Amino acid sequence: MQDFLMLRDHSPQQIAGLLELSHTIKQRPGQWSSALQGKSIALLFEKPSLRTRASFAAGINRLGGHSIFLDGAEVMGKREPVSDVGSNLALWHEAIVARVFAQNTLTELAKASDKPVINALSDQCHPCQAMADLLTLQECLGDLGKVHLTWIGDGNNVCQSLMAGTALTGMHFQVVTPEGYAPDAALLAEAQAFAKASGGSVTLEHRLSQLQATDAVYTDTWLSMGQQRDADQLLRDFAPYQVNSALMSRLKARYFMHCLPAYRGREVSAEVVDGPQSLILQQAENRMHAQNAILVTLLNGVEA
Ligand code: CP
Ligand code: NVA
Repeated sequence: MQDFLMLRDHSPQQIAGLLELSHTIKQRPGQWSSALQGKSIALLFEKPSLRTRASFAAGINRLGGHSIFLDGAEVMGKREPVSDVGSNLALWHEAIVARVFAQNTLTELAKASDKPVINALSDQCHPCQAMADLLTLQECLGDLGKVHLTWIGDGNNVCQSLMAGTALTGMHFQVVTPEGYAPDAALLAEAQAFAKASGGSVTLEHRLSQLQATDAVYTDTWLSMGQQRDADQLLRDFAPYQVNSALMSRLKARYFMHCLPAYRGREVSAEVVDGPQSLILQQAENRMHAQNAILVTLLNGVEA
């Protein structure tokens, strides 16, 4: 494994290995406290973050490494080309964790850097989030091959990483979005091909009436970072897709998931996101364990 830019770049065996290692590191953190000793990681962010930034910083610290934070707006773009940022950061750091707008920025960083680059969210995908979510579902439901997950909302970055992640692990994933907010057609087709090989399934639907019963329902904000959308239009398009108690009951869903930040009363009702079915804190906690497994694998060549 050289970089961690998109889940589709990795085999089902690599994804399964990362999940196994995430469990091990979570259960026995002491064994990994020197894994990144003497190593430095650059955290380069073009967009705001709470969970990703804080969980990478804390996780790297727990592995005995050191991280520095760089504001992407300050160092990239007008000031100097992305390729110079990548080649320079690689001189002093063992890895670059980057949150960016364009997926292409990650590709350019990876090309210029001879050290691993990890995607901490782009407009296209959020693979670290998806790994934490798969870990959470394994903890709650066991064998992923038997798990049915439903996405309700905008089919962008988090949804697109979950499409690949669920397909590579043999899960059943139904995606429901309003018309005009579907995931990228090529990424959907690719996930469907992965699912065919793994025994899972990935489906896309716009009609809520067609939804099947599910183990867990996942939603995300209707307005992602950096998006310019008309607020009234957004409400008109998404309002019927709010996840609330009535929808959770109709789908017989045991769990609710959200990557956060969540907007109560918009994509999810407060009673659901703050209720007993909600996995939001377990997902957020697992960000660190999943990311530590990725770091250890990329930097030390450790596999589960
Ligand atoms: N879920 C997630 O990536 O949260 P942040 O945007 O706060 O990092
Ligand atoms: N879709 C959201 C995810 C935040 C973690 C966004 O891109 O803002």
